[in-house]
Amino acid sequence: MLAIIGGTGLTQLANLVISHRQVMRTPYGEPSGAITFGHLQQHEVMFIARHGYGHTIPPHEVNYRANLWALHDQGAKRVISVAAVGGIRADLSPGDIVVPDQIIDYTYGRQFTYFDGKDRSVTHIDFTRPYTQELRQQILDAAKRANEACRDGGVYAATQGPRLETAAEVNRLERDGADMAGMTCMPEAALARELGLSYATIAVVVNHAAGRGSSRDGVHLESISTVVQPAMARVRNILECVVGSDGD
Ligand code: HPA
Repeated sequence: MLAIIGGTGLTQLANLVISHRQVMRTPYGEPSGAITFGHLQQHEVMFIARHGYGHTIPPHEVNYRANLWALHDQGAKRVISVAAVGGIRADLSPGDIVVPDQIIDYTYGRQFTYFDGKDRSVTHIDFTRPYTQELRQQILDAAKRANEACRDGGVYAATQGPRLETAAEVNRLERDGADMAGMTCMPEAALARELGLSYATIAVVVNHAAGRGSSRDGVHLESISTVVQPAMARVRNILECVVGSDGD
């Protein structure tokens, strides 16, 4: 089954026909909220709001382990995460939608693995390509069918938050090769890989990164919400088209 993790601006799926909600406990604590089960275009999906349904959980306090564990436990095979980002690359502007293909992790102090604890043999995962290519392609194909412009590829810098970056930090991220900055794809992507889930992200550019473009003198937080609403409507169109693409 397809699972969708909604981020900022996507705390619910308006086009989801809800069948039930499931409150979960996991060995890692409580997920961000109940998992919502329902049908999107007649296909079964599950949905969870990463920041809670009231958008109260900041990026560094999200229980990523519990969220991914709960989705896996309920039968998810593919996970599409939706994430707001700031555009670093000059050609990324507010409103653009990107399917990133790489990650650089700058986060710290988060619970980032299931493979810890005593009496456990050391386990590594291959993370050369942090996003599942097949699922990325399914999203890109769905965007084409939905007639929604969607960029193929880009490096996602996962920053700690909850504050936004300084202009100098954004310069460093760019020198490192990052195209966009967000706060949530790590450890989410790595945990999905540890559980054997397919995982890909639909990144929505909601602002120019600090010091760039319209954020040259500061990020105008109030204008983010005006970008988010129409962009998330476009994301919903893409999700409607991707849901049937793997025999869900
Ligand atoms: N930086 C980091 N995370 C973000 C941004 C940003 O500019 N915009 C939305 N999420």
